[in-house]
Amino acid sequence: GMERTFAMIKPDGVRRGLTPEILARIARKGYRVVGLKQMVIARETAENHYAEHRERPFFGELVDFITGGPVVALALEGENAIAGWRAMMGATNPANAAPGTIRADFATTTGENVTHGSDSPGSAQRELALFFHDGELLA
Ligand code: CMP
Repeated sequence: GMERTFAMIKPDGVRRGLTPEILARIARKGYRVVGLKQMVIARETAENHYAEHRERPFFGELVDFITGGPVVALALEGENAIAGWRAMMGATNPANAAPGTIRADFATTTGENVTHGSDSPGSAQRELALFFHDGELLA
């Protein structure tokens, strides 16, 4: 069915000027961009966003990275958009990402893998609410 998902171009992607290329892929796929903002993520928001990774050894590094420069936060709408956007990104580790995916084409390391996407309907709802007010999204 129709879904909304939270997507993000991470600081490495924004810094490298990949925003237009990634937005073009989203448009070609047919997803509707219902929310979009370039922003620097507050530390508290980042810790909340990545709460499930709090006990991991790379948590501090992850929060430093994601707050270290502007990101582009996106709300995408489309048929099966949650799994579909993750398929477009490819595997978390770019070495395992299928050819033609964003991570295969543009990334080399797990730590700096250019984009994020919600992994389930519950995550999508939580992450969209963390980054967008209702009034900021298209109806
Ligand atoms: P993402 O799936 O967007 O959210 C969790 C992030 O943790 C993941 O992207 C990676 O960027 C990051 N991550 C996962 N494993 C590692 C790791 N071993 N070292 C550094 N970062 C990691």
